[in-house]
Amino acid sequence: MKRVKLDPLVPVTRLKLIQGLMTLLLVYLLFMSLQIPLIFKTGNGFVPVDQALPMPRPRPLLVKNDESEPKLLDKPRVSHRSPGRRMRETKRLSALFFNESIFDAVGSVDEFSLLHKASKEALMAGKKLWEELESDKIQANPIIVNRNSTDNRTEHCPTSITLTGSEFSARNWMLELPCGLTLGSHITVVGSPRWAHPEKDPKIASLLEGENELMVSQFLMELQGLKTVDGEDPPRILHFNPRLKGDWSGKPVIEINTCYRMHWGRTPLRCEGWSSDTDEETVDGQVKCERWLRDDDPYPEDSKATRWLNRLIGRKKEIDYQWPFPFVEGKLFVLTVSAGLEGYHISVGGRHITSFPYRTGFVLEEATGLYLNGDVDVHSIFAASLPSSHPSFAPQHHLEMFKKWQAPPLPNAQVELFIGVLSAGNHFAERMALRKSWMQHKLIRTSEVVTRFFVALNGRRETNMELKKEADYFGDIVIVPYMDNYDLVVLKTLAICEYGIQTVAAKNIMKCDDDTFVRVEVMIEEIKKVPRNRSLYIGNINYLHRVLRSGKWAVTFEEWPEEVYPPYANGPGYIISSDIAQFIVAEFQSQKLNLFKMEDVSMGMWVEKFNTSKPVQYVHSLNYCQSGCIEDYFTAHYQSPRQMLCLWDKIQQGNPECCNMR
Ligand SMILES: *[C@@H]1O[C@H](CO)[C@@H](O)[C@H](O)[C@H]1NC(C)=O
Ligand SMILES: *[C@@H]1O[C@H](CO)[C@@H](O)[C@H](O)[C@H]1NC(C)=O
Ligand SMILES: *[C@@H]1O[C@H](CO)[C@@H](O)[C@H](O)[C@H]1NC(C)=O
Ligand SMILES: *[C@@H]1O[C@H](CO)[C@@H](O)[C@H](O)[C@H]1NC(C)=O
Ligand SMILES: *[C@@H]1O[C@H](CO)[C@@H](O)[C@H](O)[C@H]1NC(C)=O
Repeated sequence: MKRVKLDPLVPVTRLKLIQGLMTLLLVYLLFMSLQIPLIFKTGNGFVPVDQALPMPRPRPLLVKNDESEPKLLDKPRVSHRSPGRRMRETKRLSALFFNESIFDAVGSVDEFSLLHKASKEALMAGKKLWEELESDKIQANPIIVNRNSTDNRTEHCPTSITLTGSEFSARNWMLELPCGLTLGSHITVVGSPRWAHPEKDPKIASLLEGENELMVSQFLMELQGLKTVDGEDPPRILHFNPRLKGDWSGKPVIEINTCYRMHWGRTPLRCEGWSSDTDEETVDGQVKCERWLRDDDPYPEDSKATRWLNRLIGRKKEIDYQWPFPFVEGKLFVLTVSAGLEGYHISVGGRHITSFPYRTGFVLEEATGLYLNGDVDVHSIFAASLPSSHPSFAPQHHLEMFKKWQAPPLPNAQVELFIGVLSAGNHFAERMALRKSWMQHKLIRTSEVVTRFFVALNGRRETNMELKKEADYFGDIVIVPYMDNYDLVVLKTLAICEYGIQTVAAKNIMKCDDDTFVRVEVMIEEIKKVPRNRSLYIGNINYLHRVLRSGKWAVTFEEWPEEVYPPYANGPGYIISSDIAQFIVAEFQSQKLNLFKMEDVSMGMWVEKFNTSKPVQYVHSLNYCQSGCIEDYFTAHYQSPRQMLCLWDKIQQGNPECCNMR
């Protein structure tokens, strides 16, 4: 994972440059505040972050809390926009971070200030990008073309690919599959695991006392979505990781998972030598994990011969021969991964080892690269039954500039619910899918519920130009003017709170991601169940979530001193009442707000603080689904654009079921 590391990387000259820029910026700010007050209204955020828990743990919050007792309601520094006094914003920029001295608080050098520094730099970079964008309107020819779905641009791809080991390593251990996979595609890897080597800091296990190194042999094979996004790590659609010498469990194990938007699936599939339970879900009829011989098995391996003999001479009883762990150091293996109807199937040496259901709403053609790395020598790779064509990937082709997808104008009346959707500059397809699905809900079209995307600026200029045009056309994007950075997602949540109370005057504010499907009328029903004058915090709430101190996802005490996190709702969909949002924005503006890298934990902290002065009704439901879609869902997460449209179709037919397709 990315960490915030700033100082050691910033050469002195850059510091000087930054100082210079800051001075300029101050002058500029002063000028702006004198000349054109209020020109920057509305801002916006960026990347969907649901902090799936098995993530490397958070870095410290940005701001050190000065522990002055919360004075919440006595000084409403942040006032609701009174209906009717609404300003027509000429620019769709978030106003919240316009005052950069907001991050100058606690001018100390402790690590709490790291997030501040990162924020400040990102804001400065963002402002520069924005000014550049503003200054070259002339050159902005329509890059976004309105294309019909009958776009005839297709790529032509080979239906099979063969690589030798040396060709493969020359390509940095990446086999590109330009058109992705299709049903029945299969890839075979011939290789051999390398001998274990000592590791002083094994990431997959912790050292016992007295040990200073551990023998490790492991490798990974991944199907990655190379063309899906830029500016962030490609999604790992299938991550297959055999650990020959075991990991913290002490036994050889194969771990399988997915990683989408840089978040690992919360529960990896771990095959540890036990066969999956017979009542567990199968994949195309295959178990998820096959059994293999463990060294703690009751039948020692040498009884094999006896059993074989018994079988030969006609006694049929004992025939469940157990194969050993499929990978052995130094021994050749032939591994095949194939794409079935319900998931990927992996076999080694012709024997089925594991099956992994398609999980996160990817379509098969998105798996455009096979990557191998770790303690393995690859001798050759064969991919076959590949699709020969692929629809164009150009993201802007996803935009469909039709009036019916534009956002309705802001109403003058108070709004029951404002939904802020975290998105990233290049998520054109995701935004379009939301516009065409749940954002077509009657409550949204009639402005009883208002939605906006919160997007930060991208490192690529073309992306920003397209984003700006998209924002101008659809009117549903708020740009948070900082350089998009995965660690700073929490700033977008702040921008959502600010926009929700200042610009929309909403009674309640919901935050979700651009891969969240929201059942809008259910949100309103759930809000109405809470007495009108109560403060509320609704979502899939984690109570007493323990901070992991050891193992793969350990968090140090420095990073999070307490044993548990405060109760917090999972990030992909939660609702707070506007008094809480007001409190958050006021605290932020007076520099008293703790910021934690995990956006959802941050919100839990803030609500907890608010609750000390006015009781908050916490409403928990598992139907705000964190990982995928469940029956009777209120919100579904990790939904691909295709699934969004499918879910919406089903709702239109009065049938709110999941779309767990490939
Ligand atoms: C910017 O923030 C600082 C610190 O909170 C505050 O003192 C100053 O008045 C603010 N400036 C403007 C123009 O709001
Ligand atoms: C796009 O589709 C519309 C009808 O849906 C059609 O009238 C138009 O000619 C098409 N444009 C192109 C470039 O094919
Ligand atoms: C797409 O179709 C149009 C007309 O049907 C044709 O002029 C154009 O060359 C085609 N483009 C490609 C890339 O095949
Ligand atoms: C909510 O309203 C009820 C009845 O109007 C009142 O008794 C109660 O004190 C109010 N609660 C809060 C927290 O204001
Ligand atoms: C909120 O405050 C109430 C009363 O002050 C307290 O009983 C409750 O435990 C608090 N809830 C949380 C989640 O902190």
